[in-house]
Amino acid sequence: VSKLQILALAGSLRAASMNRLMLAMAADCAPAGVQIAQFHSLGDLPLFNPDLEAPGCVEPASVARLRLAIAGADAVLIASPEYAHGVSGVMKNALDWMVANGVFVGKPVVLWNASPRASIALAALRETLSVMTADLVIEAELCLLIQGRDGELPSNPDPLAMQQALLKLKARLCEPAAASLL
Ligand SMILES: Cc1cc2nc3c(=O)[nH]c(=O)nc-3n(C[C@H](O)[C@H](O)[C@H](O)COP(=O)(O)O)c2cc1C
Repeated sequence: VSKLQILALAGSLRAASMNRLMLAMAADCAPAGVQIAQFHSLGDLPLFNPDLEAPGCVEPASVARLRLAIAGADAVLIASPEYAHGVSGVMKNALDWMVANGVFVGKPVVLWNASPRASIALAALRETLSVMTADLVIEAELCLLIQGRDGELPSNPDPLAMQQALLKLKARLCEPAAASLL
């Protein structure tokens, strides 16, 4: 049986991003049958401009790479920081590029967050992905404070919580009809 492929998107370009680290931790402790791969090139996307989507325009290669990575994944796992009570520009820019192509339509999406106080951006992400008609897997959401001390890289504060969240995602992906009855 092939593994479920989860594409992980971090909304921070920071070298020491806690959201990126959270997704790397998820990849390291993923339950059997689940494989998590991060897409590291959100920073390569041009600033979204609908003019660039007009008929006759060639889709930028970086946009096509993201679209194909999402299309090829069984689910998308997003972890994004909150900046000034909003979704990071990096993440919003990526999502704006993915509206017209419809790649998120019906796509199972899980929202994680490395900072529980970033609840406004989390709610905004939920709203944006809902209007894009993604299939939000609410039961697999996870807010977990990831923080390093004295500049050191933090270790995973709760691998069990990550595994349980990923098992809920796996259950939804394997038995969509049954999971929706829970
Ligand atoms: C410009 C700026 C604005 C921020 N605004 C908020 C905010 O409104 N709410 C919040 O919870 N954190 C805010 N933060 C803190 C970041 O969300 C926090 O540093 C987070 O860890 C960044 O994610 P990263 O580690 O993945 O880069 C802000 C940080 C910056 C740099």
